[in-house]
Amino acid sequence: MSLKAYLAARAAEVNAAMDGFLPKVKERPATIHAAMRYAVFAGGKRLRPVLCLAAAEACGGEVSDALAPACALELMHTYSLVHDDLPAMDDDDLRRGRPTCHKVYGEGMAVLCGDALLTQAFIVLAKTRPCKRYGVREYIAELAETGGSRKLIGGQVMDLEGEGKKLTKRELVRIHEAKTAALLTTSLRLGAMTANVTPAKLEALTKFGYNLGLAFQVIDDILDVIQSTEVLGKTAGKDLAVEKATYPSVLGLDASRKEAARLTAAAMTALKPLGCKASRLEELANYLLKREY
Ligand code: IPE
Ligand code: IPE
Ligand code: MG
Ligand code: MG
Ligand code: MG
Repeated sequence: MSLKAYLAARAAEVNAAMDGFLPKVKERPATIHAAMRYAVFAGGKRLRPVLCLAAAEACGGEVSDALAPACALELMHTYSLVHDDLPAMDDDDLRRGRPTCHKVYGEGMAVLCGDALLTQAFIVLAKTRPCKRYGVREYIAELAETGGSRKLIGGQVMDLEGEGKKLTKRELVRIHEAKTAALLTTSLRLGAMTANVTPAKLEALTKFGYNLGLAFQVIDDILDVIQSTEVLGKTAGKDLAVEKATYPSVLGLDASRKEAARLTAAAMTALKPLGCKASRLEELANYLLKREY
C-alpha cells in the first residue's frame, strides 16, 4: 500500500472508532457534545493516532488492539488545540480550516469542551485490552504523565512565558520537547505497548518519537513563517506577530530547515533495532519532514 493510501485508510479507521467513542450530538447537554464533535471532526491529519497504529504494526501487533489508545491520543491532542486557540492563549480564529471552537460556541463552552475531551481521552484509553507486559494502569499512567504539568502543559506554560523574550536554543528545545515531542513519543509507545513490545524496542521507539516530535514542531514553526493561511487551515504568521520563541526566530529559517532534517535523520537511526518492520515509520518520518501543512 502507498503511504497516501495507508494514511487515508488508518485515518478512516480512527475516525470511525472516534465516532463510536464520543457521545452522540443528541445526548444532553447537546451543546457540549456538538462542540466536542465540531473540534474533533474538523479535519486534522490524525498524525498521533496513525503513529500509534503504525508502531503497533511495526511491533507485530494488531491495529484493532491499538484503536482505543489511538483515539485517546487524538482526543488529548484536540483538547490541547481547543485551549491553545483560546483568546487567553494564542488567540486564534481559524483551526483545521474552520472557525475555532470558541468562535462558534463561545469561550466558556470551549474551555469546557477541552476539559471534556481530555476526560474522554481517559475513558477511551481505559478500554485498551491488557497484554502480558502492559495493563491499563501502564497506559493511563503514561498518557497522564504526558498531558501533565511536566510535559504538554509545562511546554504550553514555557511557550506563553517565552513570548517577547530572547530565548537560547536550549530553552527553545525544552519548550518543544514538552509541548509537542512528548505526545508524539507517547503515541508511538502506547501503540507498541498494545503489541506487547520488548523494553529494548520500546526504548528505540522512544528515541524515534523524541527526534520525530522535535522535528515536527520545528516544521510547524517553519510553516507558520512560509506557508499560507489557506493551506495551513490556521492563521499563518501568528508566531512572529506575538513574538513567540520559535526555531525560525531563534536560529533563522535556513538553520531551522537543517535542524529538522538532522532530527529526522536521528529518528531514522533510532529505528535500527526494529529492522525492516519499521519501514512504514521511516516513510512517515520522511513524509512529515516534507509536509506542506
Ligand atoms: C498542531 O498539530 C499543533 C502542534 C503540536 C504543532 P497538527 O499539525 O498535528 O494539527 P492537526 O491535528 O493536523 O490539526
Ligand atoms: C501547539 O503549538 C502545541 C500544543 C497545542 C500543545 P502551536 O501553538 O505552535 O500550535 P499551532 O501552530 O497553533 O497549531
Ligand atoms: Mg501555542
Ligand atoms: Mg497555537
Ligand atoms: Mg504553531
